[in-house]
Amino acid sequence: MNTPNQNIKPVTTRINENNNIEIGGCDLVELANKYGTPLYVFDEQTIRSMTKSYKDAFKDYPHINMMFAAKAFMNKTMCKIMQQEGFGLDLCSGGEIYTAKTSGFDMSKTLFNGNNKSYDELVYALECGIGTISVDNFFELALLNNIAQSQNKTVRILLRITPGIECHTHEYIQTGHLDCKFGFDLTQLDEAIELIRDEYSNLNFIGLHAHIGSQIFEKKVYFDEIDVIFKEIKRIKDKYNIILHEVNLGGGLGIKYTEKDKPISVYDMAKTITEAFDKFSEKYDIEKPTIFIEPGRSIVGTAGVTLYTAGSSKQVPKGRKYQAVDGGMSDNIRPSLYQAEYTVEIANNPNGTKNEKVTIAGKHCESGDILAENIMLPEIEEGDTLCFYTTGAYGYSMASNYNRVLKPAAVLVNNGKSDIIINRQTYEQLCESDVIPDRLN
Ligand SMILES: Cc1ncc(COP(=O)(O)O)c(C=O)c1O
Repeated sequence: MNTPNQNIKPVTTRINENNNIEIGGCDLVELANKYGTPLYVFDEQTIRSMTKSYKDAFKDYPHINMMFAAKAFMNKTMCKIMQQEGFGLDLCSGGEIYTAKTSGFDMSKTLFNGNNKSYDELVYALECGIGTISVDNFFELALLNNIAQSQNKTVRILLRITPGIECHTHEYIQTGHLDCKFGFDLTQLDEAIELIRDEYSNLNFIGLHAHIGSQIFEKKVYFDEIDVIFKEIKRIKDKYNIILHEVNLGGGLGIKYTEKDKPISVYDMAKTITEAFDKFSEKYDIEKPTIFIEPGRSIVGTAGVTLYTAGSSKQVPKGRKYQAVDGGMSDNIRPSLYQAEYTVEIANNPNGTKNEKVTIAGKHCESGDILAENIMLPEIEEGDTLCFYTTGAYGYSMASNYNRVLKPAAVLVNNGKSDIIINRQTYEQLCESDVIPDRLN
């Protein structure tokens, strides 16, 4: 069965009677006029369709725990939607914990991840009643045990491991290979386990965690990852008589940015994972552990589009045509960071003949601030609304104020209604943290 991550466009996308693109029953040109651009637009039905697919695809496995990787797109509305959908949250900073907590999220359903959690963040996480912590290294084990002791608490922990699996994605988003900044090498696990057993009595070791990378298109890597993890679980059981009940496989399911991408469906992924859990629990004679997954991109990536207004253009004599828009690397760093590609349409002219090759440039003071290179579009006119698809994940969450450009607004659309979920930043907010030392006044 096809799932929305296999499509470029949100599930509600259509061309309306004004000949404009419509998402969630809202005309994108009207949204651009009403809220200004750049604007992130999120289709609620696509988000909920993905969470439903995940729940449905894993429903026959006895113990399953799903968390949304908040890093993909984090704000209080996303926390509300995830709570309603029965998802937990995978959090990786004090700021994400604060956002979840102040949105009213049930903190027992959260997991704290990261390779350099600070003392303050760990203290805050425990004070907020975080559900589980994925411990990344020896330094953190000692730090966390001290903090847990001082708060008189026992903390549920997973150990993050690098399973030595390479997935074929961009090297910046590979995380499971051996020479990687995240997690314990498998050869270090025994030392960590013995420290927990002998010294860190405030840590309750319940399972293993791995995340092999993002934008994964292959089923086999999940299978290989599970084999490595189950082998470890068996070894730990035999050597230490410790039974691990939870296996967190991370996130990573890919989405379709352009026609070249062929992501697998959530059902294909779930089938591979549950079959591997069945097979390896039998092979290694261990009780079936709870499957934890923490998808980010696939939950929210396809649901989001970014709208820009076309501004200046430049035809390089005998060279390229550049069309500039009113945003760029400050609202979407992915093309500059790792050559990410997107599908683009003109929201007010979706059916025009694509007879012009154009490079869409951002407005920032960097030659590398290019959002899309050499794509075919109908001739763009100044004032047109450009729609970049699949920008829902790692767009807003990686946004910056480079050149003191304001962070855009985000709206949620559903059944013809649009609601602001993140206000556009103001100049006052931009400067509110600036301080001029007295001696300069
Ligand atoms: C530990 C961990 N879990 C989950 C995710 C989410 O991955 P994705 O957005 O590809 O699903 C990430 C992404 O970097 C991660 O580092």
